[in-house]
Amino acid sequence: MNANREVLCMEPELTETPIGVATPVTPTTDTMPRRASVGRDVRNTVGTITVPNPRMEARDVNVFYGEKHALKGVSIDIGAKEVVAFIGPSGCGKSTFLRCLNRMNDTVSGCRVAGQISLDGSDIYDRKVDVVPLRAQVGMVFQKPNPFPKSIYENVAFGPRIHGLVNHRNELDELVEASLRRAGLWEEVKDRLDQPGTGLSGGQQQRLCIARTIAVSPDVILMDEPCSALDPIATAKIEELIDELSQNFSIVIVTHSMQQAARVSQRTAYFHLGHLIEVGSTRDIFTSPQHELTEDYITGRFG
Ligand SMILES: Nc1ncnc2c1ncn2[C@@H]1O[C@H](COP(=O)(O)OP(=O)(O)O)[C@@H](O)[C@H]1O
Ligand SMILES: [Mg+2]
Repeated sequence: MNANREVLCMEPELTETPIGVATPVTPTTDTMPRRASVGRDVRNTVGTITVPNPRMEARDVNVFYGEKHALKGVSIDIGAKEVVAFIGPSGCGKSTFLRCLNRMNDTVSGCRVAGQISLDGSDIYDRKVDVVPLRAQVGMVFQKPNPFPKSIYENVAFGPRIHGLVNHRNELDELVEASLRRAGLWEEVKDRLDQPGTGLSGGQQQRLCIARTIAVSPDVILMDEPCSALDPIATAKIEELIDELSQNFSIVIVTHSMQQAARVSQRTAYFHLGHLIEVGSTRDIFTSPQHELTEDYITGRFG
């Protein structure tokens, strides 16, 4: 009944047809929203997974937690100085894939990763790779801000010190200040650098964690739902920051907010039950998705 009424509303000519006379409805692109053309049962990734200037290239990545096959044949490039958003329902493998990109899954017992992932052409899973510098090159910001139980200054200075990035105290001071400035936090903390990082507000703590990540000059920053514990004002500050940081770094952000993905990213990847279903420009994914599963998700029919 409702469906019929909708059709009537969309086809003005129909209103002149006598009731009871069947009239074929031929939707045109002018009157009907564009429909995804790839069916729900298709699991190959739709869209272009490559970019002209990749920093990271992931190919056929599979992840198992014991017997559970959590990530299934995921391939995607992360381009230089771009923001890529990972979206999809809970449990679809977004965090699992993010953790593959800096080998955080190595720390999860029972977890096995197969496939290839490179950073600037070098295999990050090569046996010779030291994961400590790798995790500085591919830094991670988590959902819940996790400053070290140290002063604000020491939170930022810690990485440059252990990675031997500076030789003198004044260089370290400069790097701490520059990182806090880039994270938009300097003015708020410059008079209390010796106070604990954990004493800051949630949004400030998250910016402190971002300052800590950028202090070691990463190539790529991974953010796993970085705003989900923050209020809207703190969220807006982080989103502005992501925009600025993308001038220098590649950023991959997992987000549950489609509005956030639309605001901050240039490319979007949609995950569903361990598969990468569709990749495309954020605009295309949100306005004309090709896969029915993507369309279901962005129109709120799923998840
Ligand atoms: N440490 C773990 N041990 C076992 N299973 C896990 C672990 N982490 C995640 N999983 C499972 O892998 C799947 C993907 O999870 P996850 O990557 O956290 O999804 P998302 O971030 O999209 O919500 C889920 O079914 C989840 O239960
Ligand atoms: Mg997750």
